[in-house]
Amino acid sequence: MTTRTGQHAPELVLKAVESKDELRVAHDLMAKVHCKDYFEGLRWMETAGAGYPNFRPEHTRIALWKGEVAGALRITTDTIRLKMGGFGWISTSGRHRHKGIARELIVDTLAYLQRQNYHVSMLFGIPNFYHRFGFATTLADYVSVLQVIDLALGSNGDYRVRAGKPGDIAAMQKIHNQSDGDVACSIVRSGAHLTNRWEQWRPVQVLTDAKGKVAAYYLPRIDGNEMYVDEVGAVSRRCFRSLLHACQQQAIEHHAARIRFRMPPTHAFARYLTRFRSAHETRICVNEGGMMAFVNLGETLESMVPEWESCLAQSAFARGRVEVTLVTEDGAYRIRAHRGAIAVTPGAATNKLSLTKVELMHMLTGYYHAEDVLDSKRRMLSEDARAFLNTVFPKRTPFVWPLDQF
Ligand SMILES: CC(C)(COP(=O)(O)OP(=O)(O)OC[C@H]1O[C@@H](n2cnc3c(N)ncnc32)[C@H](O)[C@@H]1OP(=O)(O)O)[C@@H](O)C(=O)NCCC(=O)NCCS
Repeated sequence: MTTRTGQHAPELVLKAVESKDELRVAHDLMAKVHCKDYFEGLRWMETAGAGYPNFRPEHTRIALWKGEVAGALRITTDTIRLKMGGFGWISTSGRHRHKGIARELIVDTLAYLQRQNYHVSMLFGIPNFYHRFGFATTLADYVSVLQVIDLALGSNGDYRVRAGKPGDIAAMQKIHNQSDGDVACSIVRSGAHLTNRWEQWRPVQVLTDAKGKVAAYYLPRIDGNEMYVDEVGAVSRRCFRSLLHACQQQAIEHHAARIRFRMPPTHAFARYLTRFRSAHETRICVNEGGMMAFVNLGETLESMVPEWESCLAQSAFARGRVEVTLVTEDGAYRIRAHRGAIAVTPGAATNKLSLTKVELMHMLTGYYHAEDVLDSKRRMLSEDARAFLNTVFPKRTPFVWPLDQF
């Protein structure tokens, strides 16, 4: 519990909810502030929200202004290879805005996440608010758009299309995990994530093979004369034509002229779609949308070691020796590679590179090319150190699937 003391009495108390009454008032505030349908919001928080994998009572956090709940938020914890604590439902009651309630609540929650050994934080936020807490935009939105009329695909081959059901979760989960390994920042899902969000997954369609096994799935959503597909997955590329055909048939049934597939361009199905007349959009927002911040920089760098070592193994540095020092607002970290093994220690040595934490986050997630960040710096880096940084910070396409966003 943190207290900001006023002249006579503690005026602002920041803490986790402790009583049923505090939880009820926090839910009431968040539902009022965030939901068009208040009762639906309340119901979600009390059921699916409370049952989200690893959700704990202390993940609802409040700001009490002179004893009254004036601000609230919910933490969502997940793994994105790193331990991530996400912010959601951030709310200040209308009467108490612009007096620093949200700021104090966010700072206090970041300190809580640090105490709990989280590495990074993530959120999907309003414009120009979260950068002041160190959050950097790292997650773009991608859409591949096809005109239904352009697709001449023939029949659906050997697959049958039917509505998905909870019994398909294990198969869908397996398909998702198979193809998701390369998607940077993607939330590592368990079956419980799908069970918890089944209400949103309910429209899912599955393609089954001759033995009745699930070979592919897609999650459609009709919006006006367009059909959105918020996720696709298939056991192999052989299913792609049938998967696209199934989407096309459903779009025709609903008189949708276009299909908008939401997935990163690196996804195998997005690459398949480039065989057709299509448009591939990347929507970049600055200081809004999917943003990330370090909660504990040292621990984050430490946790990157296995991934960096595997990058190194495939590079010219597999057996060499190289060292760099990353100098940030949180201090300096020395990264040494020797014969394929990497060690991270606090402190400075040679090859110093000064970076803001925002720049480092952009490099770590692969949102920017490391080269582009390095080029903007005056620095004393050897050729080897520079090549090393380009090896361990490859360009990637960080992405969180729409149904995993919180
Ligand atoms: C956004 C919200 C939580 C801000 O709460 P608040 O308690 O009034 O914010 P604070 O007083 O702590 O403001 C902190 C800083 O953010 C700025 N700020 C406040 N509201 C802002 C907004 N809507 N957009 C951008 N900046 C904002 C303040 O000017 C202040 O700036 P400073 O650092 O220059 O002093 C509140 O307006 C709210 O509940 N909005 C509706 C729900 C919402 O949009 N939540 C965010 C979901 S991602």
